Amino acid sequence: MAFDAEQFRARGREQKPKLGRPLMYQAVTGSTNDDALLAARSGAPHGSVFVADEQTAGRGRRGHTWHAAPGENLLFSVLLRPELELAQTSALTLAIGLALRDAITPLISSEALIKWPNDLLVGGKKLAGVLVESQLQGDRLQAVVVGVGLNVASREFPEEIAARATSLAVLGATRLEREPLLYSVLEAIAARVEDYQRSGVAGLLGELNAADALRGRRVRVDEQSGIGAGLDDQGRLLLQDDSGVVHAVLSGTVELL
Ligand code: BTN
Repeated sequence: MAFDAEQFRARGREQKPKLGRPLMYQAVTGSTNDDALLAARSGAPHGSVFVADEQTAGRGRRGHTWHAAPGENLLFSVLLRPELELAQTSALTLAIGLALRDAITPLISSEALIKWPNDLLVGGKKLAGVLVESQLQGDRLQAVVVGVGLNVASREFPEEIAARATSLAVLGATRLEREPLLYSVLEAIAARVEDYQRSGVAGLLGELNAADALRGRRVRVDEQSGIGAGLDDQGRLLLQDDSGVVHAVLSGTVELL
């Protein structure tokens, strides 16, 4: 079924949420992140949200493709014009992970954990992914686009991700209407972005470490491998190598071994 943008907008007119005004909806688009980045260049305001039922070029981190069956999932991007330096945008991904966790926790009975830096896992399978992209003018941050793919109603996945993906429906959630779900996810994102602007990673560190899917697990991040030892106050992943030395990893693709 198509996303009911008018239902979402009507609620927004009454309740005036911090994010989601305006809401731009398209049945099919290339990538909502691209739509948001393009709109950012033409001056679209903080809080604009771009949502689609289907993407033909959905992107994940590091050039991965984001697969999502049409009409069953939440695919959206939020345009933020936050008071942040460019260097603070990569750890913003972690704050968004917490926001997604906040929004979906009341809907399911299992715990959601964050697989650093941008995956939300439940039962070891991926429920959602976050792609944060920045737009600069010179070295000044003009806009940040937060793209989220959240698996909502899909019960079947393409073969290449079937073993690693899950959805709210698979996890037994019964409230699967995407309009109220987007609304509550955006409220959670607004709150977590405010926290992050106020107190940085340090203010979220306790919760991030409690929600860390990699703690105590053997992982490989690009060339480095070791045991996950939590995050530091810059949002870096701590890896303890076999000789007990702890390394802080700034970015990379994590593989659970
Ligand atoms: C990842 O897991 O690597 C991040 C996936 C992010 C996917 C979302 S879907 C909506 C938005 N538009 C995109 O092209 N990507 C993000």
